[in-house]
Amino acid sequence: MNVLLGVSGGIAAYRACELVSLAVKRGHTVRVIMTSSAQRFVGTTSFEALSGQPVMIDTFADALGHIEWAKWASVAAVAPASANVVGKLACGLADDALGTTLMALPRGRRIVLAPAMNTEMWLNPVVERNLRWLAELGRYDIVAPTEKRLACGDVGPGGLAEPVDVLAAIEAAGG
Ligand SMILES: Cc1cc2nc3c(=O)[nH]c(=O)nc-3n(C[C@H](O)[C@H](O)[C@H](O)COP(=O)(O)O)c2cc1C
Repeated sequence: MNVLLGVSGGIAAYRACELVSLAVKRGHTVRVIMTSSAQRFVGTTSFEALSGQPVMIDTFADALGHIEWAKWASVAAVAPASANVVGKLACGLADDALGTTLMALPRGRRIVLAPAMNTEMWLNPVVERNLRWLAELGRYDIVAPTEKRLACGDVGPGGLAEPVDVLAAIEAAGG
């Protein structure tokens, strides 16, 4: 299937490389869209090399790219999904390449979110509310984070789900 993968700015961005690698080995075609913050953690080159596809970082680099990529996708996912991206999706914001392309995703195509963040961010009521709100919309599948010692040293929920589990959710959502 054609997998549109959004990567946002968190420590777990490097694990999205593993996810792309797994998905490609399973025969999927993956196109990655990175937020500006994601590029502070991982370079576009890694995703280009692993996917064999171009990586989108700028809505305005290719005028109709966001529409074409949205139409191309059988399923979309964001892994890791930052608290910020979750909030922007819940508010219907489309102020970067990822938000704009997801906004243009044809009706009926599902969006898998794999949030990853510090435990206090994860337990923040506004993040909980945003995710509950997105789940209620009926087109989002949330892959819950794992509980572990996080990069910041805190122990608790907030770690990115295992890439193999995120891929299983993507395959289920892509039908
Ligand atoms: C070292 C570092 C690690 C971060 N890790 C996370 C994270 O795991 N999850 C998260 O939601 N935000 C994390 N942030 C904050 C985001 O990078 C920040 O909210 C950013 O605006 C998100 O932008 P984006 O959602 O457009 O990618 C981290 C910031 C830094 C400096």
